[in-house]
Amino acid sequence: MITIDPMRLGGALALSSGYLAMCFAIWRARAARNSVPAADADWLVVYASQTGSAEYLAGQTAATLTTGGLSARAVCMSHLEAGALSKSGRILFIASTYGEGDAPDSGARFAGETMDSAPDLSHLHYAVLALGDSSYTNYCGFGRALDGWLAAHGATPLFERIDVDRGKASALAEWQHHIGRLAGTADAPDWEAPSYGDWRIASRALANPGSAGAPLYRIALVPLDGALPVWEAGDLAQLSAPADPEHPREYSIASLPAEGRLELMVRLQRREDGSLGAASGWLCETALDTDVIRLRLRAHQRFRLNGNAARPLIAIGNGSGLAGLRALLKSRIDAGHGDNWLLFGERNAAHDYLCREELQRWLAAGSLARLDLAFSRDQSTARYVQHLVREHAQTLRNWVDKGAAIYVCGSLQGMAGGVHEALTEVLGRETLDALTAAGRYRRDVY
Ligand SMILES: Cc1cc2nc3c(=O)[nH]c(=O)nc-3n(C[C@H](O)[C@H](O)[C@H](O)COP(=O)(O)O)c2cc1C
Repeated sequence: MITIDPMRLGGALALSSGYLAMCFAIWRARAARNSVPAADADWLVVYASQTGSAEYLAGQTAATLTTGGLSARAVCMSHLEAGALSKSGRILFIASTYGEGDAPDSGARFAGETMDSAPDLSHLHYAVLALGDSSYTNYCGFGRALDGWLAAHGATPLFERIDVDRGKASALAEWQHHIGRLAGTADAPDWEAPSYGDWRIASRALANPGSAGAPLYRIALVPLDGALPVWEAGDLAQLSAPADPEHPREYSIASLPAEGRLELMVRLQRREDGSLGAASGWLCETALDTDVIRLRLRAHQRFRLNGNAARPLIAIGNGSGLAGLRALLKSRIDAGHGDNWLLFGERNAAHDYLCREELQRWLAAGSLARLDLAFSRDQSTARYVQHLVREHAQTLRNWVDKGAAIYVCGSLQGMAGGVHEALTEVLGRETLDALTAAGRYRRDVY
């Protein structure tokens, strides 16, 4: 497996035009799938998605079938009712792959429980669109496993599984072609990606002077034409550097539109030869405030507050992961909710205490009910954010009992796995699985 750096290189490599058209199209697709009553749908489009690509494509797929006069419904794999496989005759699966060939969080229960059982699926016709990235060892691992499991239990493929490498347009066109044929229509809805807009840097500040880690910049951007587009806490921004226009990078947005600017926290990357990373080097150092920044927004449905807006929020993360968490916290605070708890980890309090003044202000004002910090290098034994989870186990259980949602943002290596293990220990696997299925445990890790 390649290492994913904070610039979300892996995720960004998965982008290509016509693929990650999340922003406004998701809402349109959502409207289409909500219009089909659950019980009446002849076709289920089941998606297992982490960052929204599979979800978006499922919405488009259901919309295409609906255009052809069929009843179709897109449903998240975590919401698939027990018995759905035995009741449904036609299911299209769209599944991404994470970890080391694993299902995304929303497919974890299906992969662990359903795919561990041996139902008779001889009544079922299906197809699989597997999303992945061929630079990983287990390319499209979950989609492939799913396809194999369905076939092994007697289900009949409508057509051969389609593997999509980094959003490759030709593979998606093949899927769209098959769906058009099933729907009996060439009149497919628009699957095109939204175009990039022109932005400029309004301010840029080093957020961790003197840090033992790589420099991290807080960068505020505004559109050239002055009108800020709409986004929600949890959403992402895609930018491409002039030196490397084919590989947009993805960053969590740290601010809300009401603040009048789009803020990012960008870690400056260096390659092994010491040269600056193409996108981070440009954004953090080279780009002038007169330069045009090509940027587009990406709705990240799985990391938005959505149904959790009124629930207590437990935000857990490290490093530049504070960007996504800050937007979520700000959104709840602006809505008048003070039952927010941040558990944050970095290296040294003296240099890496990001957003220090704001967090302390929020704490003093009661906008933040709790703030727990782990600075790994401030004592002889390393202390990470997962240690905080264990130390505050009882408080965490109380918050979850009160209905809290848990959002984790930051590095995949070390942090996300460690936090997941600690949460499993503190809450129990069953509870954590149930929280995942209910959308109360959400992760944006990279
Ligand atoms: C941390 C991480 C791990 C990944 N692991 C794999 C993998 O093991 N195999 C693979 O084919 N793709 C892997 N991918 C690529 C995703 O499956 C791919 O980007 C997919 O399009 C994401 O779809 P989604 O937005 O619906 O979650 C990984 C991506 C990330 C960010």
